[in-house]
Amino acid sequence: MAMESLTITQPDDWHVHLRDDEMLKQVAQYTARQFGRAIIMPNLKVPVTTTAMAAAYQARILQATSDYPGFKPLMTAYLTDTIDPQELQTGHSEGIFTAAKLYPANATTNSAAGVSNIKLIYPVLEAMQSIGMPLLVHGEVVSPDVDIFDREAVFIETILQPLIKDMPELNVVFEHITTKDAADFVEAQADNIGATITVHHLQINRSDMLVGGIKPHLYCLPVAKREEHRLALRKAAISGNKKFFLGTDTAPHAIGDKESACGCAGIFSAPHALENYVQVFDEENSLDQFEKFAALNGPAFYGLPINDKKVRLVKKPQQVPASIGHPPLAVSPYKAGEMLDWRISTD
Ligand code: NCD
Ligand code: ZN
Repeated sequence: MAMESLTITQPDDWHVHLRDDEMLKQVAQYTARQFGRAIIMPNLKVPVTTTAMAAAYQARILQATSDYPGFKPLMTAYLTDTIDPQELQTGHSEGIFTAAKLYPANATTNSAAGVSNIKLIYPVLEAMQSIGMPLLVHGEVVSPDVDIFDREAVFIETILQPLIKDMPELNVVFEHITTKDAADFVEAQADNIGATITVHHLQINRSDMLVGGIKPHLYCLPVAKREEHRLALRKAAISGNKKFFLGTDTAPHAIGDKESACGCAGIFSAPHALENYVQVFDEENSLDQFEKFAALNGPAFYGLPINDKKVRLVKKPQQVPASIGHPPLAVSPYKAGEMLDWRISTD
């Protein structure tokens, strides 16, 4: 008989954009409802570069998620060409900064202040290596001569591989991987190199975004690739390999900013993240591997305990709402209007 319910350790989301102000108040509850902890991305309009900024942002997140008092936002620092290594070390030792995020300058939303040349921050990365502070990377090159569908593969070759060679002890999370190249690369490295995989990259390929009319709500960065890559990501996720773990990259933008002549990158997948992930594992007949990917591998990589709480998922259909929140900030959730097979039990 097919399994109709699944109880697992409460998962964490290792890659989340919660934004700030009214958008934060509107979206944060969806992450806090499902996850014990979340790694909070620092790409606010004014990037989070200091311990004081991160502590203040964390307090605003806790305020916005006060209905879920167990939820713990884990903060990250936004690396710039000129960030002070001492600030990172202090933030890490005080428990404010869990990790630091590398955005190649201009790679994605709010990344203009990102790193223009990785060599410039080598002293920072060396400091992180020596204190065991993880580096989270947006793995795409930005050179205009590299095709957008090749940017992740070229990043591996030209940036990531040399970096790992130069700093073999640095803990690196290759965020939101989208290619077979990335999955194979991560698998072949030592245990200090891991990767997050989003739910949408397990479910859609580039044709889903582009065939039969452009679907701006399926546009994100790194952009979805060919079907063979989606299949390789599914294989990595269900493998149980401790290098691969859950990170939604939920990235809300107001509907008008997505449905635009120059639409923003980002998919708001938080509202039904677990339900969509479990559907993938169900389709792959791998429900027995779901807890590792969603709740065990991430904490192990970050050296944190697993959550005490349990979550029960049941196979009972539900419909995703057409939109969430209020204009002008209303957001279209991933799979708006569609039916899902699973839901989180609230018994
Ligand atoms: C993210 C955002 O909107 O902040 N967008 C996205 O498409 N994933 C930034 C990012 O993670 O690249
Ligand atoms: Zn992201």
